[in-house]
Amino acid sequence: MDHFLYRDGALFAEDVAIADIAATVGTPFYVYSTATLERHYQLFQQALEGLPHLICYAMKANSNLAVVRTLGRLGAGMDVVSVGEYLKARAAGVPGERIVFSGVGKTADEMRVALEGGIRQFNVESEPELHALNAVAVSLGKRAPITIRVNPDVDAKTHEKIATGKKENKFGIPISRARAVYATAAALPGIEVVGADVHIGSQLTDLEPFAQAYLKVAELTRQLRADGHDIRRLDLGGGLGIPYERTNGAPPLPMDYGAVIRRTLGDLGCEIEIEPGRLIAGNAGLLVSAVIYVKSGEDRDFLIVDSAMNDLVRPSMYGSHHDIVPVVEPAAGIELRPYDVVGPICESGDTFAKQRLLPPLGAGDLIAFRSAGAYGAVMASEYNSRPLVPEVLVRGDQFGVIRPRPSYEEMINRDSIPQWL
Ligand code: LLP
Repeated sequence: MDHFLYRDGALFAEDVAIADIAATVGTPFYVYSTATLERHYQLFQQALEGLPHLICYAMKANSNLAVVRTLGRLGAGMDVVSVGEYLKARAAGVPGERIVFSGVGKTADEMRVALEGGIRQFNVESEPELHALNAVAVSLGKRAPITIRVNPDVDAKTHEKIATGKKENKFGIPISRARAVYATAAALPGIEVVGADVHIGSQLTDLEPFAQAYLKVAELTRQLRADGHDIRRLDLGGGLGIPYERTNGAPPLPMDYGAVIRRTLGDLGCEIEIEPGRLIAGNAGLLVSAVIYVKSGEDRDFLIVDSAMNDLVRPSMYGSHHDIVPVVEPAAGIELRPYDVVGPICESGDTFAKQRLLPPLGAGDLIAFRSAGAYGAVMASEYNSRPLVPEVLVRGDQFGVIRPRPSYEEMINRDSIPQWL
């Protein structure tokens, strides 16, 4: 459930009319709902109730400071994958002891910033990284708390570009080698082993791969403890999928996911960490856009809108589906017609949807792409010299611009021309 509903024929974000935001901010823009973000966080809290746990929101899904602060204020931890995300989490008020640092390519500089600033743990993904972290920690006179991310070789049954738990993927250490790597870690003076970590992919719509991976982690935990390691935390990654198509069944709920965690790992007495991104932010956001032209092609009508693949890249990058809804509610019984919904960018890949059934629309009409709160604004670029789309946060009957639209001047002035040119 989200808080983007029609009221008296107009689409609202909580108690704010989308058309009112459009009139103030201009189109296109992203809009997020505080109540939806909070609700999704609470669903995970309820799912893990009774187990010691920390929900570390995966900031890569949406790292706007206001979104991070909204969740941080509820007590959320953060999963970061760059020093940029680490510094944003801190700027949003999240303490270091609630931040976990993931990613296959952490640099020594990034490690140093996090170790000096305070960090809950590093999720280490390779032996070279382990040694690099040890060296940084020793140079600072510290011990770095770590888990090792294991690759359980489980098929997450999701899009190949976002599956991470198979042996052909670049992530983690093969689970078969884990005991040897833990032995190495335990012998390093700058390293303190605190747990284990796994993340098998994103937009999972089946719980079975989670169960398979978590059973392997449970077995590994027992072995590692027998080897003398103090495995007290298990980071189980993110990945629970969301319903992108309202008409196409629903993925499992956080409560069902929580039941899998309890069943597979609940008896180990470990503190559980999870790193959900998409499920918290995805359906808490819309990309709102205006129709520029309706163009009749030879065999189809094109809806040319003012947002494009640079603003929301998921459809062209992964072939993903985003529901599209008109901001003015269509009259009951109105006949829908098929449109190809496209942006202004000069390549055919700039297509949001083909032959999408929508009510008749004309120039100036507003539409909204649903499920755009995760991996939307964060993946945007200025391709075609289109300034980044602004972001707006709604809470109840108030809204605030949480990232303004850059002016053309700002965009142009970010480049510089060398003296010799
Ligand atoms: N933890 C780790 C280590 C991750 O790599 C990811 C996502 C997450 C947590 C959060 O997963 P989530 O709960 O959001 O599924 N750009 C793609 C998604 C890439 C996900 C990468 N890693 C998309 O637009 O679908």
